[in-house]
Amino acid sequence: MSADDSNERVQRRYDRVAPFYDTLESIMERRAAKWRRDLWTEVIDGDVLEVGVGTGKNLRFHPARARVTAIDIAPKMLERAQRRADLKGSPVMLERADVQALRYPDGSFDVAVATFVFCSVPDPVLGLRELRRVLRPGGRLLLLEHVLSEGRWLRKIMRGLDPITARLVGAHIARETVASVRDAGFTIRDVRDLALDVVKRIDAVAP
Ligand SMILES: C[S@@+](CC[C@H](N)C(=O)[O-])C[C@H]1O[C@@H](n2cnc3c(N)ncnc32)[C@H](O)[C@@H]1O
Repeated sequence: MSADDSNERVQRRYDRVAPFYDTLESIMERRAAKWRRDLWTEVIDGDVLEVGVGTGKNLRFHPARARVTAIDIAPKMLERAQRRADLKGSPVMLERADVQALRYPDGSFDVAVATFVFCSVPDPVLGLRELRRVLRPGGRLLLLEHVLSEGRWLRKIMRGLDPITARLVGAHIARETVASVRDAGFTIRDVRDLALDVVKRIDAVAP
């Protein structure tokens, strides 16, 4: 965790960016919408926790048969997600919560999903450990994440830019999230590269 990271800072950054978030992301969203849809086809039903719901871009992919609880640390992002949910008539339960300290009992969920979230969580391994705890044994973790490239030059550039992106938009671009998922005690089932080796889909199981 860098000196710039604390829950308060992350929350403030996302509260500040909330009114422009969808516009800022609109170019990337042209590709991301398909990645989101594909990821959510893996979820059929059961109790699902969506972490870092943001403005609610995944709401339209929530399966009708699943009971989805969606959390975020930033109230202004949640307000936007709530507006989307109201417009869509979505039954999602939206709650303000920190993935690093969840109030849910052990084994509460069948699936946990997060898209582009662990780049901004101050201590990703702690957050992922919490997800492992609240998932039932055998429960699934599905992530879309941008991570540090293995390519020598891109790696250098990403490491150099990381403090700037973290300060400006709260996103670390040099995280090694596949390793964090493993360090948190999950078993990795599948990792797929979606854009270069930077955007990945990670599929893991809680022991
Ligand atoms: C880059 S946005 C992604 C939003 C959404 N998942 C998407 O795909 O558009 C990251 C989100 O994670 C949330 N977040 C960051 N740290 C968090 C934490 N510790 N607990 C819960 N949410 C967090 C931020 O407030 C923000 O809404």
